[in-house]
Amino acid sequence: MRRPLVVGNWKMNGSRLGSVELSGSIAKNFSAGDRCIDCAVCPPDVFLADVAATLANSGVGLGAQNVSQYEEGAYTGDVSASMLAEFGCTYVLVGHSERRTCFGESSQQAAAKFVAAQGKGLIPILCVGETLAERQAGRAFEVVAEQLDAVVEAAGLSALVEAVVAYEPVWAIGTGEVASPVQAQEVMTFIRARLGEKAGAMRLLYGGSVSVENAAQLFEQRDIDGALVGGASLHPEQFMTICQMAEA
Ligand code: 13P
Repeated sequence: MRRPLVVGNWKMNGSRLGSVELSGSIAKNFSAGDRCIDCAVCPPDVFLADVAATLANSGVGLGAQNVSQYEEGAYTGDVSASMLAEFGCTYVLVGHSERRTCFGESSQQAAAKFVAAQGKGLIPILCVGETLAERQAGRAFEVVAEQLDAVVEAAGLSALVEAVVAYEPVWAIGTGEVASPVQAQEVMTFIRARLGEKAGAMRLLYGGSVSVENAAQLFEQRDIDGALVGGASLHPEQFMTICQMAEA
C-alpha cells in the first residue's frame, strides 16, 4: 500500500503574513484529525522559516519549490539543498515545468538537482509532463520518458524509485483544463512500467488544475497516489478538502 501524498505548491504567491496565516490554517486543520496521508506545502524560500515554525508538530511537511544543483559557492541567487534541509524541508520540487519553460532548465539540470537534493536527505518530487504541442504530436510518452531517463542516468533507478514523481501535463497547469482520469492513469501506467518492478512502491502524484471538483475522480485511479496542487493550495479549505479526498 502506498500512502497518499498531497503537496501544495504555492509558487511565487503571497506575503510573509499571508504565508503564516495559510500554513497556520492548514496546520490546525490537519493536526485535528487522525491522518492516513502525508501532506506538505512548498512556500517561496523566503517564507520557509516562518512557515516551518507555524507547521511545527502539525504533521504537515515542508518543501521547497526549487534547489541548486551545486553544493555551495559563487552561485548568486541559488539556494543549496543543505540550506533547505537546515530550514526543515523534507521535500523539494525538481524540474517543475515552470522551471523548465521560464528558466530554460534542462532534464540534465533537473537530474543534477535531484542528485543534490537526495544527497542532503531531501525527498525530491520530480515533475514530468508534456506540452500541448507534444501531446498533439503523439509524443507525450516520449517526453516523459526522456525526463525520467535523465534522472535514472544521473542518480540510478533505485534512487529515483525512492523519490516521488509528479506527472504534470503542461497544458493542464493553471489552465483549468485538467487531464481526464483516464489520460492521467495512462501516463502513470507508462511511468511505472518504464521504471519496472522497483517502482511498485513509488508514489506518483498528478498535478495540473487539481480542484475540489476533480480530485476525487483522479484519486480513484489505481496508480495515482496523490496530487501536486497549485492554485487550489492557496485556499486552505479547498486544499484540506483535496487532502480529505485523498484519504477517502
Ligand atoms: P495548478 O494546480 O494551479 O494548475 O498548478 C499545478 C502545478 O503546477 C503544481 O505544481
